[in-house]
Amino acid sequence: MLKKDGYEFVEQTKYLNISESDQRQGKPQPPYELPLEEGKPLIDLPNPEKIDLGTYDLRKAIEIRRSLRRYTEDALSLEELSYLLWLTQGVKKFDEKRNVVWRTVPSAGCRHPFETHLSVNRVDGLAPGLYRFAAGQHKLVALDMDPTFNDRLTEACMNQRQVLTSAVTFIWAAVPYRTVWRYSERSYRYLYLDAGHVCQNLHLAAESINCGICAIGAYDDDAADRLMGFNPPEMFVIYMASLGRRG
Ligand SMILES: Cc1cc2nc3c(=O)[nH]c(=O)nc-3n(C[C@H](O)[C@H](O)[C@H](O)COP(=O)(O)O)c2cc1C
Repeated sequence: MLKKDGYEFVEQTKYLNISESDQRQGKPQPPYELPLEEGKPLIDLPNPEKIDLGTYDLRKAIEIRRSLRRYTEDALSLEELSYLLWLTQGVKKFDEKRNVVWRTVPSAGCRHPFETHLSVNRVDGLAPGLYRFAAGQHKLVALDMDPTFNDRLTEACMNQRQVLTSAVTFIWAAVPYRTVWRYSERSYRYLYLDAGHVCQNLHLAAESINCGICAIGAYDDDAADRLMGFNPPEMFVIYMASLGRRG
């Protein structure tokens, strides 16, 4: 017998069951990204255009893509990291008047409800630790330089080894109100759909620089949010992906 509890979510987020959105009630639009953390150093990233793929074959990237869980010991260059961040959450255009951004991925209603965090293990020029991608500035913010951060993240990911051995693990946090402001309860469908697009871009971008990723959906939500210092439901871990060089 099919368990119906999960489908309740679909039922409750049908148009006839959702409340009037804050946007319709005239409430102010939330900012498109978090403010910069005071006192935390900002780190410049190289121009992502430095990675020149020439005439890279997209069909090949899609065909060879697979989940990669074993990585070489090689570090990622900062240029490569910059390229991956650009192709997953890069801000292409900002309309200041309307407070809207367009990024390299689609997002329901152009709400872009994510903040990318990185658990860095082996990236040239970056000390191991936790960073946030300030997408509007295309810079990194160093948040926690504890070298054991990745060990603790691995634990929160049910000790999945690919997190421990990754060059870097992407941690996508959802800030639901950006989408909820427009779509109320229905937004929770879009958060997860949006996250899938981001991770698929990372899959394909990684393939193009001889790296691979493994999407991580199996993690202890409470442990992960605690570790990241998030305060659900305002902000919570929605998806992760470990990444490293292909052998
Ligand atoms: C939403 C989602 C969550 C996933 N979570 C995990 C995970 O926690 N651990 C893992 O080893 N693989 C995870 N995977 C990878 C899948 O196991 C993998 O995509 C699937 O076995 C198909 O293999 P392929 O990606 O090589 O084609 C996840 C994939 C998706 C799309």
